[in-house]
Amino acid sequence: MAGLEGSQLETSSAPGRRAVLDWLLGVSAIGALLAVVYPVLHFVFPPLRPKGRAKGAVLAGRASELPPGSGRVFPLGTQPAILVHTPDGEWRAFAARCTHLSCTVRYQQDLGMLLCPCHDGRFDLTGKNVGGPAPRPLPQHTVVLKGDEVYVTESEAV
Ligand code: FES
Repeated sequence: MAGLEGSQLETSSAPGRRAVLDWLLGVSAIGALLAVVYPVLHFVFPPLRPKGRAKGAVLAGRASELPPGSGRVFPLGTQPAILVHTPDGEWRAFAARCTHLSCTVRYQQDLGMLLCPCHDGRFDLTGKNVGGPAPRPLPQHTVVLKGDEVYVTESEAV
């Protein structure tokens, strides 16, 4: 009697296990399909603008905190940018991603230029590449002063 109950249990639970395995196989197949299809669709139909990218002017800093001959890196949308107050008193802003391999450049006060720490790429204060392996100048952004606040607008070329 007990053996009969055991075989009844096996036969009654077999379709349940099979259904679970079929469900897991189906979910795995859908996951594998999405893992292939999503990157292909993202490549074929890229987003027009990355999320979080600046659409207008961004407050990059306060003039009172950046004396002539200084600079600071700040986020402009999803990308780093650098605001420079030149020793001559001009304000400039550039994309801070080095045009070689995208390391973030910084203002090097003693050299009076923008320096990339990765491979010693060098840019003058107009953004022009003047040393190291960087192949192109840094894209320049637009700077607007409103009182003590320094705003930067992303250039369309970035
Ligand atoms: S990443 Fe800037 S010089 Fe190589």
